[in-house]
Amino acid sequence: MTKTLRIEDLHVSVAGKQILKGVTLEITTGTVHALMGPNGSGKSTLAHVLMGHPKYTVEKGRIFLDDKDITHLPPNERAKLGLFLSFQYPAEITGVKITSFLRTAYNTLHNTNMSVVEFHKLLKQTMTELAMNPDMIKRCLNEGFSGGEKKRTEILQLLLFKPAFAILDETDSGLDVDALRIVAEGINKARGKDMGILVITHYNRILDYLAPDKVHIMRDGKILKTGGPNLAKQIESQGYEFSEFASLTQENSGEL
Ligand SMILES: Nc1ncnc2c1ncn2[C@@H]1O[C@H](COP(=O)(O)OP(=O)(O)OP(=O)(O)O)[C@@H](O)[C@H]1O
Ligand SMILES: [Mg+2]
Repeated sequence: MTKTLRIEDLHVSVAGKQILKGVTLEITTGTVHALMGPNGSGKSTLAHVLMGHPKYTVEKGRIFLDDKDITHLPPNERAKLGLFLSFQYPAEITGVKITSFLRTAYNTLHNTNMSVVEFHKLLKQTMTELAMNPDMIKRCLNEGFSGGEKKRTEILQLLLFKPAFAILDETDSGLDVDALRIVAEGINKARGKDMGILVITHYNRILDYLAPDKVHIMRDGKILKTGGPNLAKQIESQGYEFSEFASLTQENSGEL
């Protein structure tokens, strides 16, 4: 069954500063949307608000998952409803082994009780698909991981948890060319008719692999323009200041 994540006229502030100034966006399962925009335009803020980060205040607007208003739900409730966020700067969790973290999360999200042995098998198999070193299983979550290893661990979670909606914040940054391909293939493997994905990125390269259905450009807390993959190509070749785009406001934005 198709699910919809709907963001309606979202206004958000942090530390008294208004960051999002009326964001409207709808993502259905089975589609991939890309979100691009200059540094500081509010992309990560949107990702954090979608997951219910307590630092951000919703001043106006609402977020719906199907008919359920999730604007003020705590993060764990959102995760249970099928939302997944990968962080631009993933946290290290000292003392928590990857296996136990992932198994606990897996069992909670899937409402099951997979045994240690069974989960270990699933984990090893999924790690092999992502060309991850199985020795990492013994380590603590993200502790001492290289940038690329952290990103692969995020995609590992995507493959294991199979959320209804995934928000991937710069999963492609800092990856070498082979890692980028592996991560993109992992995302392509995870996606399907039951998953909707919002990919936040600065680069067209990952979009070449993912072929997004829509590309949105955010600037100064608003979605200024929505188009197809060509819009991402145009941004890459011309930057955000190309004349047609620079003169746009949300009111007169349209499809490229
Ligand atoms: N705690 C905070 N206090 C004040 N300003 C903040 C705070 N958190 C975020 N901001 C500001 O909000 C704006 C949007 O930040 P955000 O991280 O959402 O941008 P972004 O589009 O993800 O940028 P980038 O492409 O560099 O990752 C920035 O100007 C940032 O400085
Ligand atoms: Mg960001």
